[in-house]
Amino acid sequence: MKILVTGGAGFIGSAVVRHAVRAGHAVVNLDKLTYAGSLSNVAEVSDSPLYTFEQADICNRPRIDMILARHRPDVIMHLAAESHVDRSIDGPAAFIETNITGTYTMLEAARAYWSDAGRPEGFRFHHISTDEVFGSLGATGQFTEDTPYDPRSPYSASKAASDHLVRAWHETYGLPVVLTNCSNNYGPYHFPEKLIPVAILKALAGAPIPVYGAGDNVRDWLYVEDHADALLTVVGKGRIGRSYNIGGENEATNLQIVTKICALLDEKRPGNRPYAEQISFVSDRPGHDKRYAIDPSRIRAELGWRPSVTLDQGLERTVQWFLDNEDWWRALQTRDGVGRRLGTGG
Ligand SMILES: NC(=O)c1ccc[n+]([C@@H]2O[C@H](COP(=O)([O-])OP(=O)(O)OC[C@H]3O[C@@H](n4cnc5c(N)ncnc54)[C@H](O)[C@@H]3O)[C@@H](O)[C@H]2O)c1
Repeated sequence: MKILVTGGAGFIGSAVVRHAVRAGHAVVNLDKLTYAGSLSNVAEVSDSPLYTFEQADICNRPRIDMILARHRPDVIMHLAAESHVDRSIDGPAAFIETNITGTYTMLEAARAYWSDAGRPEGFRFHHISTDEVFGSLGATGQFTEDTPYDPRSPYSASKAASDHLVRAWHETYGLPVVLTNCSNNYGPYHFPEKLIPVAILKALAGAPIPVYGAGDNVRDWLYVEDHADALLTVVGKGRIGRSYNIGGENEATNLQIVTKICALLDEKRPGNRPYAEQISFVSDRPGHDKRYAIDPSRIRAELGWRPSVTLDQGLERTVQWFLDNEDWWRALQTRDGVGRRLGTGG
């Protein structure tokens, strides 16, 4: 299968690219290389004859048309997005442009390409989205695929809008789409502005480890390599027009996550005092969703997919990866906004 992956130089997209090439698929990685993208994320496969890179903006329709005509992919996996909630609070415009207009542009380009090719049966447009479109849960309950959308941040609202466009292009034009909504990812190549890499790198730097509010917001945590595996399962076997929730079956509060990271570092890179003493509670994110949880029954029952690692196993691998790959994260620490508190709404 030849797969066009948008956002393949980002955190999750690069995991998809690496998995797909390892599995013997041809991959075209289409990425604009924003602050969040890095070709070092795909260095493992970049010399493979199965791999090609195209630097392009998903909002640029003539470029997308040209890339589709040149490479003639069997399927499109659409991951390119602005993805950081805190940045969406400070600057929502880029989120509207990339996540909504960019998805619209990809859908129109895909529709023209699929139509001109005689509507091949195997074609899929796989849209990768988030559980944040469902809003915030109380202490109990889980998001199913039928949970009504209730996004509460500029990021999640822009992703919700893109999901609606993808469904509309299926219903109206018959475009063969599949959608996935997943929980918080973590693992190797996680850009150093999100909770887990921030906690690891602040701890190693001997700096305060920021925890928003009381640290009691709950997330389900999905190891990125498991997510990439789930996405390749869905694009291969998912039912057209259907969406699948993907979770890690691992709920934890932010404070539990940071505490576990500190304990792992105490073991692997002991300092003079326990790293947990560096934890520092800071003002909360405006509109911070309280809890997300995923009901993974559909993907498990229909496609037989389950995560392969527990949270403890995944965190251990992640902390070890950051310890072993200092060159990778040091190079990204100079990028705009990294290491600063963003999204205070002030
Ligand atoms: N990270 C998570 O926990 C998570 C959870 C659920 C869903 N998602 C979704 O998964 C997808 C990937 O997330 P991620 O964490 O890997 O994001 P990321 O920010 O690490 O990577 C995004 C990639 O998209 C590229 N990109 C951005 N704007 C572009 C444009 N206009 N044209 C072409 N490329 C562009 C960037 O250069 C980057 O390589 C996103 O759609 C996101 O909404 C992420």
